[in-house]
Amino acid sequence: MDLRFDGKTAIVTGGASGIGAAVVDDLAQAGATVIVADLKKAEAEAKAAEIEKAGGKAFAFAVNVGKAEEVKAMVDFAVAQTGRLDYLVNNAGIGGESAPVGEATIEKWHALMDVNLHGVFYGMRYAIPEMEKTGGGAIVNMASILGSVGFANSSAYVASKHAIVGLTKSAAMEYSAKGIRINSVGPGFIKTPLLDANLDAATMEYLAGMHPIGRMGESAEVAALTVFLLSDRASFITGSYHLVDGAYTAQ
Ligand code: NAI
Repeated sequence: MDLRFDGKTAIVTGGASGIGAAVVDDLAQAGATVIVADLKKAEAEAKAAEIEKAGGKAFAFAVNVGKAEEVKAMVDFAVAQTGRLDYLVNNAGIGGESAPVGEATIEKWHALMDVNLHGVFYGMRYAIPEMEKTGGGAIVNMASILGSVGFANSSAYVASKHAIVGLTKSAAMEYSAKGIRINSVGPGFIKTPLLDANLDAATMEYLAGMHPIGRMGESAEVAALTVFLLSDRASFITGSYHLVDGAYTAQ
């Protein structure tokens, strides 16, 4: 299957690390100009430089997706640099605090929602009007298996990911007839710096065993689904939630 994005512009938030970086790689190899948008400026610049060195086209943009005005600036930057915006992957996300609901920190709840949920809304809020100008586009919002099942001591994260699934469905109903497809992706546990930062080795091993396939996933395996959903091959797929989870939620 040959998926091409030549002449098209894509923004990938959280594009400097983990799943986002793998999506950046695939899109760039498939011909897209990619905006590597990340809180970590130096890492975003390094990723964009790596893409350029490999013969692809990329720009770095420093953004906190939890701030509406910064997300607007990110979209404006993409259009100023390339003249268009065709694809958005709302991938940036954080793990949040480990605590039961009755002990959760109010400020930490809001901080997580700002990034994981409001960041996704801001991305669509500013990207969609640009996509309408060119007659269409596609968006993938990075949810999680925890967009459909619970996980103890992670209520803010789980709530944010369930909310992304609902937000995706509603937005898709509004824009499908206008040529903009919007889907969410639900990865199982994927070996990335996010997990390394939040979990010890024993927990990682336990979590790997929770997947009937017998291991955690790789970022490239999530990128493969994400890029397919963005592509024209997925032309009738919109408003839906797509798992890539080694049968975690099949149990
Ligand atoms: P990661 O930690 O490797 O990469 C996330 C990137 O997002 C980092 O480069 C970070 O600097 C950036 N970022 C964080 N906050 C940001 C903000 N406010 N504004 C802009 N950029 C920001 O994480 P990973 O694992 O690649 O996760 C990516 C997405 O996939 C997240 O939404 C996460 O919730 C989701 N996910 C991850 C799973 C996993 O097991 N790793 C499983 C299911 C979903």
